[in-house]
Amino acid sequence: MRLRDFALERFFARWEFKAELLLCASDVEGWPMRDLLELASEDDRRRWDDLRLGYTESTGDPALRVAIAELYEQVSPDEVLVFAGAEEAIFALHNVLLGPGDHAVVVRPAYQSLAEVAQAAGAAVTRVALHEANSWRLDPEEVRAALRPNTRLILINEPHNPTGSLMDRPTFDRLVGLAAEAGAHLIVDEVYRFLEFDADDRLPAGADALARGVSIGVMSKSFALAGLRIGWVATRDRELLSRLAAFKDYTTICNSAPAEVLALIALKARDRALARSRGIVAANLPVLDAFFERWAGTFEWVRPRGGSVGFPRLIADLPIDRFAEDLVGETGVLILPGSVFGDKGNHFRLGFGRLNMPEALEGLDSYATRTLR
Ligand SMILES: Cc1ncc(COP(=O)(O)O)c(C=O)c1O
Repeated sequence: MRLRDFALERFFARWEFKAELLLCASDVEGWPMRDLLELASEDDRRRWDDLRLGYTESTGDPALRVAIAELYEQVSPDEVLVFAGAEEAIFALHNVLLGPGDHAVVVRPAYQSLAEVAQAAGAAVTRVALHEANSWRLDPEEVRAALRPNTRLILINEPHNPTGSLMDRPTFDRLVGLAAEAGAHLIVDEVYRFLEFDADDRLPAGADALARGVSIGVMSKSFALAGLRIGWVATRDRELLSRLAAFKDYTTICNSAPAEVLALIALKARDRALARSRGIVAANLPVLDAFFERWAGTFEWVRPRGGSVGFPRLIADLPIDRFAEDLVGETGVLILPGSVFGDKGNHFRLGFGRLNMPEALEGLDSYATRTLR
């Protein structure tokens, strides 16, 4: 298997812990351990104190799978498989579902592994574009046109990284219909689910929508616990689940015992956990709105509809990679050039899940005032 470098992760490897202010992180401000433990019921606090650090059940702690299954309508706990983050789930899914002679349809732009691992597994991959002119929406008829007799999966990410777009319900239903007709899996990367700005816009989960629907979830984004490295696959396709479980024997075997207990505590208090994340995002959005209003004509901004990232465009005749490099060099503020997503349109990713986003944005504002006005 030949994997090309993960451009975004290589970029972060260089800057994430060096830059002073991250204006492009996709996760929500991580919970302090002390605050998280305060959410625990007495039983779960005991579970934490008495935890033994041996191997854990490979499919995931049974109580944790119960808590994850509660996020869905049609999924039972044994239809959940816990992984080390969404990243391991993506790696396992593509390796299990795809090989030479197979075909996959994956949105563009996308978190790189969503297409990269499919290709590395030997499959042909057709990318279908989200269109900026259409608020970064996907045209399902382009997905239909991309389908082939050997299409094994259609992969979408809603709410979407890096654009923050969220498709409407008729589009989602059309994709469900297309996947069902094609006998393909519909894989929905839902790591930003529950962070829709308007709860009415929330789409059904992939795992609930069809028998071959697959939901990829994680504690990193909406639940603000990226350091746990707990993610999962939920699907009613039990054959797929057992193949994934067998694949996991070659990656992590089982999950981190402390991380499983902490994820359980957060999921049991999910209303409070999600309210905290939504509160951070809701406080940051008006600050961004004011910024983009002030900078209309220099930056263009399709306002996201969910998640914790957006994908504005620098209109000035200056390559965004250069701008980003100079910005972090001079001010310590990090933005993520769209080139790491293969974007050629001078876009960059902004993250608005961190508490210090206003301060980071101020750094961008004063740098832009000095260099672009
Ligand atoms: C769309 C998407 N999927 C998957 C992942 C991977 O999540 P994790 O790093 O928590 O495994 C990310 C992380 O940024 C993401 O944005």
